[in-house]
Amino acid sequence: MESVEQIRPVIAPAPVMKSDLGTSLVLEQIVHRFGEMVALKNINLNIQPGEFVSLLGPSGCGKTTLLRIISGFLKPSSGKILLDGQAVESLSASQRGVGIVFQNYALFPHMSVWDNIAYGLRAKRLPNAKVNSKVGEMLELVQLGHLAKRYPSELSGGQQQRVAIARALAVEPKLMLLDEPFSALDKNLRLDMQIEIRRLLSEQGVTAILVTHDQEEAMSMSDRIAVMSQGEIHQFDTPSQIYDQPATLFVSTFVGTCNLLPAKLMGRDMSEYLVQVPGGGRFRVASPTPIQPDDNMLLAVRPENLRIQTQPSSHSLPSTVEMCLPLGAVTAYEVQISPDTKVKVTQPRIPGTRLLEKGQQIYLELASPHACSLFPATS
Ligand SMILES: Nc1ncnc2c1ncn2[C@@H]1O[C@H](COP(=O)(O)OP(=O)(O)O)[C@@H](O)[C@H]1O
Ligand SMILES: [Mg+2]
Repeated sequence: MESVEQIRPVIAPAPVMKSDLGTSLVLEQIVHRFGEMVALKNINLNIQPGEFVSLLGPSGCGKTTLLRIISGFLKPSSGKILLDGQAVESLSASQRGVGIVFQNYALFPHMSVWDNIAYGLRAKRLPNAKVNSKVGEMLELVQLGHLAKRYPSELSGGQQQRVAIARALAVEPKLMLLDEPFSALDKNLRLDMQIEIRRLLSEQGVTAILVTHDQEEAMSMSDRIAVMSQGEIHQFDTPSQIYDQPATLFVSTFVGTCNLLPAKLMGRDMSEYLVQVPGGGRFRVASPTPIQPDDNMLLAVRPENLRIQTQPSSHSLPSTVEMCLPLGAVTAYEVQISPDTKVKVTQPRIPGTRLLEKGQQIYLELASPHACSLFPATS
């Protein structure tokens, strides 16, 4: 068997959630192989009742595979799945009581919109009055009341997806699994649906796992995000922690925009490190974990965490403005810090102030020693 190299993910303490309805979910050492290919390497997750968690990562990193394993449609090569503390490996998808919305809708083609949504309720043998009121409520939620009699083939992709969401929610599952459910919707409808789904699931206390490759969607909807790459979870934490303190080089570049600067560790001053970047300037950098001295490091700094000064200070980089892009709320600058290194800097735009011009000499500072991350360049 091929060896499975593993990174050690950063997993934050679980938040305290209040939910009697949602189920907790624990994944222990889930590994999945498709033949020789290891799609999931060693997945550990602990999700609280009522929590909204996103699996965020690029296409092909294993998100759908993990969701199928949780749902019961796919049996993992090894590992444990616990729902409310109960091992469920031997239970089928329907016995697990999870609601699923797939990437590709999977509606019943021979049933109307109404019947698709009613399907799960009828299977539970609920009285007709209850079925009718629930289907009506769901149709209103997804704004499709006027199309209740149509068949899936008579709907747009976005409309079909809304039916799929309504059908899954109608049976009030304890755990809702959503695989890129908004990807076919246009921008305005997507935002409406994101807000509605989030509100509805929170109100009902349903635990939810959303698969997405869209970082904004993950950031705006989730209590916590598991950032995945190549079958591994790199970090499982709140959106703001993931943005502010990325655990790996991959997280820092996949979530948000980052400048990556070759960096040399020059010394240490209490809990701060002195780091030299191209052009010879030095920054003071705080690191939550000790850093091994290494010539070959990368400093990851977000454009909004660099400050432009007109006078030098003890830790600033003499630089030149290359380009200025006024974007409305902020101004983006491209700034040359050495003959072959440019960085992006964004500054809030204050009405009435003059924009900097190409060729102007400036000094770049870090907003704070905490406003950046250091990684080994080989990570
Ligand atoms: N049924 C399958 N057979 C073989 N390989 C698969 C199968 N399903 C997925 N894979 C592979 O597993 C990896 C993860 O796929 P997937 O979980 O669909 O990724 P994601 O949802 O993150 O885009 C990919 O390399 C994909 O090609
Ligand atoms: Mg997928």
